[in-house]
Amino acid sequence: KQYETLLIEKKDGIGTLTINRPKSLNALNSQVLQELHDAFIAIDQDKDIHVLIVTGSGEKAFVAGADIKEMKEKHALAGREFSNFGNKVFSLLDNLSQPTIAAVNGFALGGGCELALACDIRIGSENAKFGQPEVGLGIIPGFGGTQRLSRLVGPAKAKELIYTGKVIKSEEAETIGLLNAVVPIEELLDEANKMATMILKQAPLAVKASKEAINRGLEMDLSHALALEAEMFGILFSTEDQKEGMTAFTEKRKATFKNK
Ligand code: HXC
Repeated sequence: KQYETLLIEKKDGIGTLTINRPKSLNALNSQVLQELHDAFIAIDQDKDIHVLIVTGSGEKAFVAGADIKEMKEKHALAGREFSNFGNKVFSLLDNLSQPTIAAVNGFALGGGCELALACDIRIGSENAKFGQPEVGLGIIPGFGGTQRLSRLVGPAKAKELIYTGKVIKSEEAETIGLLNAVVPIEELLDEANKMATMILKQAPLAVKASKEAINRGLEMDLSHALALEAEMFGILFSTEDQKEGMTAFTEKRKATFKNK
């Protein structure tokens, strides 16, 4: 499918989704959100994509937030609908069967920070900047920021960022756990692809199961989450790749996985 605001490339099992609305610093309007919705549903079922990289076009912005010009005229009901739909779209991303890496290439503000938060792993360029400036616009984060940011960096740091609306640089984002790594902008996509390639070398069903165990476990209390882990651990012993992985170890050779 062709999208007007997104670019999707596939190569060697890695999909790269680029938000492509550079004139508005890739701001998320209804069209981008709808296209992301359709793209995530398609990608989830795409057998040629085993890892997804999400990035923004240009060297200035990842995503500068929800489109303020479009949001400006909304009333309460439309505001709630916009937030609900965005949450639906970002939850599709969060729960995609494939692992996801945000390659944050510039401003990740408001909805842009929230988009990065809905990915599994975040790599930032040195010029990337993060913030939840919503309270300065008279609103609050509405695409998961109050929830995913607190879960990732802890409630105190999340409250500091959300109450003050301050914008932090990559270095600080890495220190608080918002970024997994920081690299120069010209190395950003290479670095994301390197990490994707390392993931691709592992048993695919095991990678998927670990994502599901982590994501579902985070919504449970510890004893139920550990029971889920044991269940999923057990299920993997019925896969061919478990036999292959362990046989390859004992035969002192590299495993060749079949995604079975
Ligand atoms: C609409 C935006 C935009 C946005 C930038 N643009 N961000 N349009 N919505 N979020 C547009 C500008 O209006 C401008 O278009 C063009 O992109 C270039 O931006 P400039 O502001 O001229 O660039 P610069 O001076 O370099 O400043 C960059 C910036 C600034 C610091 C990133 O653009 C900015 O502060 N943007 C808004 C960031 C923000 O508050 N995001 C949170 C939004 S609320 P024109 O045509 O005017 O030249 C949100 C809520 C999510 O995300 C939850 C919803 C439910």
